[in-house]
Amino acid sequence: MNILEAMRTRRSVRTFDGKNLTTDEIAELQNDCNNIYNPFGGEYSIRMKHFDKAADFQPSTYGMIKNAMDYFTIGTADNEISALATGFCFEQVVLRSWQRGLGTCWIAATFKGSDFDNGIPWPEGQKLRIVSPVGRPAGKSLLENISRFTLGSSKRKPFKELFFTDNFNRSLTQDNRYTEALEMLRYAPSSTNSQPWRVLVEGDKIHFYYVPKSALSVMDTGIGICHFYETEHFYGREGRFYKEPEIPSRHDKWRYLISYIPDTE
Ligand SMILES: Cc1cc2nc3c(=O)[nH]c(=O)nc-3n(C[C@H](O)[C@H](O)[C@H](O)COP(=O)(O)O)c2cc1C
Repeated sequence: MNILEAMRTRRSVRTFDGKNLTTDEIAELQNDCNNIYNPFGGEYSIRMKHFDKAADFQPSTYGMIKNAMDYFTIGTADNEISALATGFCFEQVVLRSWQRGLGTCWIAATFKGSDFDNGIPWPEGQKLRIVSPVGRPAGKSLLENISRFTLGSSKRKPFKELFFTDNFNRSLTQDNRYTEALEMLRYAPSSTNSQPWRVLVEGDKIHFYYVPKSALSVMDTGIGICHFYETEHFYGREGRFYKEPEIPSRHDKWRYLISYIPDTE
C-alpha cells in the first residue's frame, strides 16, 4: 500500500485482536519512530509500552479501546511548536503502521495517565499528553460504532470550506497545483473530528491557519500538514516550512500557524 492509499483508507482503530505484536513488528515500529522527518523542532518523545496479558492488567481508556496489548505513549512540551511537531511527526508513525496492517488511534482525552506510567520521568518540560494503541484491528465494538457515529468520524468538511486563494473570501478551485495534497490533508484525523485546519494559497506558497477550537487544534493542524507534506514528498516535490514575518492575511477567528514554499528547480 503506498502512502496515498494509506492516507485515504486509514481510520482510527479502537478494537484489536488481543495478540502481542511480533518482535519484528516492534523493531519496525521503533525504526519508524527513529526515522521521523521533523522540520519544526519543538520537544516531544515517543515511547512504546507493552501490557502483559498474563499480568491481567489493561490500562483504562474508559472502555474506548478493546484488547490492545501495545501502546505508543507520547510526551510533549506545552508550546505551539511542540504541538505542531508532535502532530506532524507522530502521524508519520500512524501512517507507516497502517501501511504494515496495524491500526492506531490518537487518544488525548479518554485515558488514565497513571496507568501508562513506567516510572521513567519524561524529559524536562514534557508531559504525557497522547497515547495510541497499536495492533491488528478486529471487528468494531458497539462502543466504537457509537463513538464513530456520534463524532461523525467518517465525514470530512468540503474542500471549499477549508481552502482559499489570495484571501478568505475566495475558495480554492480544484484545478490548483496543490489540489491532491490538500485533498489528502482533508482525510487526516483530528480530535473530535474537529478539522481545524484552514489553508490560504498564494501563488506557490501555502499558508496554514487553524480554528482555535481546543487545546489540541495546533496538534491537529500538524497532523493535517503531515498529510499535505507526505503527498508532496510522494511526488518528489520538496519544499520548506517557514514563518512569515507578517501574518499573510488576517482572519478574525482563525490563527496563522506556518507557511510552506516549494524548492525552485
Ligand atoms: C489529537 C487527537 C486526539 C484524539 N483523542 C481521542 C480520544 O481521546 N478518544 C478517542 O476515542 N478518540 C480520539 N481521537 C480520534 C478522533 O476521534 C478521530 O480521529 C476522528 O473522529 C476521525 O476519525 P478517523 O480517525 O477514524 O478518521 C483523537 C484524534 C486526534 C487527532
